[in-house]
Amino acid sequence: MAVVRLEKYLADAGIGTRSQIKEYLKHGRVTVDGVKCTDGSRREDYAALSVCFDGNPITCEAFVYYLLNKPQGCVSATKDALSDTVVELLKGVNTKGLFPVGRLDKDTEGLLLITNDGQLAHRLLSPKKHVEKMYYVNLDKPLAEADRLRIEDCIDIGDEKPCLPAKVVYADYIMSTTCGVAGSGVMSTDEAGAGHGTAVYITITEGRYHQVKRMFAACGYEVTYLKRISMGSLSLPAGLNPGEFIKIEKPKI
Ligand code: URA
Repeated sequence: MAVVRLEKYLADAGIGTRSQIKEYLKHGRVTVDGVKCTDGSRREDYAALSVCFDGNPITCEAFVYYLLNKPQGCVSATKDALSDTVVELLKGVNTKGLFPVGRLDKDTEGLLLITNDGQLAHRLLSPKKHVEKMYYVNLDKPLAEADRLRIEDCIDIGDEKPCLPAKVVYADYIMSTTCGVAGSGVMSTDEAGAGHGTAVYITITEGRYHQVKRMFAACGYEVTYLKRISMGSLSLPAGLNPGEFIKIEKPKI
């Protein structure tokens, strides 16, 4: 049983900021067990009562999960003195306790999970779990077949250990063999058009610092655009534009 002030219960449920909540209460938009309540300082075990905002039931969920299409230019952090952060992009969400699961570089786009579930984050990021991460990559020049094979086969990027095996597929190859991939969230029409050997998909099971860029750099290629398409069971939904996010159920690992 957790007895708290009504204002705190509403804030924890992400209804609004403290000052917004005061206004909502004043205007009679909150009911407790069917009765209008304007007193934010009232202390109860609200989880055991029926609290509604504008007639809609409120629940205080322990864990929440947001899937963001990270745009370029913001950093994978909760706070930053110089740049916008991915957490700050969750407009209208109570972001207290939320953090990104892993990091994408400032200039990388794509799928990023933001949650307050530390255990799930730990399991998704654990090197032992080998969670697959798929990226769409544009290169400064066409990828030679010999280099594609080198990158797949435990390439040395100057770390203590070589990389684990990876899967690298030409985007135009996927386009010519897979019906309906474009538009499914795996590949956008723009991506499909960028083929001719400079556009590839890479799937890795680790999460080293700048890993994808360093894997291609080890063979003399510069990554000019990078976007994460999927991570474990999660895929970037078609139509979710950079900067947009959706709330999702707890992901399966
Ligand atoms: N690999 C990179 O080089 N950058 C990212 O943002 C993610 C994977």
